[in-house]
Amino acid sequence: MKYLIANWKMNLTAADSKSHVTTILKNITPYLSMVNTVICPSFPSLSAVAKLITGSGVALGAQNCFWEEKGSFTGEVSPSMLKEFNTEYIIVGHSERRQQLQETEEMINKKMQAVLRAGLVPILCVGETFSERQLGRKDFVIAGQVESALQNIQLFNKKILIAYEPVWVIGSGQAVKIEEAEHAVRVIKQVLIDLYPDLDLKKDVQILYGGSVDTKNISYFTSSTLLDGVLVGGASLDVDEFSQMAKIIFDNLSK
Ligand code: PGA
Repeated sequence: MKYLIANWKMNLTAADSKSHVTTILKNITPYLSMVNTVICPSFPSLSAVAKLITGSGVALGAQNCFWEEKGSFTGEVSPSMLKEFNTEYIIVGHSERRQQLQETEEMINKKMQAVLRAGLVPILCVGETFSERQLGRKDFVIAGQVESALQNIQLFNKKILIAYEPVWVIGSGQAVKIEEAEHAVRVIKQVLIDLYPDLDLKKDVQILYGGSVDTKNISYFTSSTLLDGVLVGGASLDVDEFSQMAKIIFDNLSK
């Protein structure tokens, strides 16, 4: 079983989302036994998507949340509000939010705590920028982001997903080499082992790759025994491409 997660970002109206999901369901249902598919639409499309995927085997994810349960936080949405739509996953700390909305490590940590408190599964995004990579700080940045996001969090009996997404690769059309993604997985795993010596890494934490995944490269990332799946942005907006990705994962795992 591998994860195939669609991050639609700020694209698709509710009407567009409905027609996308309808086609996706028609195309990928035969592959769902091997492909853990999660769709993360924008907030206004959650309800429409939720209705269509109920009972289908496809899960719903949100792209963000706030860390408080309720109160005077104009414009924010809490994990339990998202849970009402049967949202199961919430993306936390995406680099676009870190960079364009100045999300700090502290905010990300609070969001991680809130998501887990609500009984939902966070998809924590970590990854270095191009300049951090050039400076040779890649591993240090990845490890630091994982460590601070998980501060004061007990992972016992909780599930989390961590997506390694090199910032400079997102939306570039050029993914990193599989060896590089696998190296990041080892760095992340080492941090987790240090933080939680008793953790059952295989069961409680799934590690994904994200950044320009498409039908041409998805085989590499989903054939690796170190990676539990992929987080897909741009290519997930094309229903045929997305459906094809599910088929490729299914075919590879069925061999
Ligand atoms: P991309 O985006 O697939 O368009 O590179 C991935 C992401 O931002 O999660």
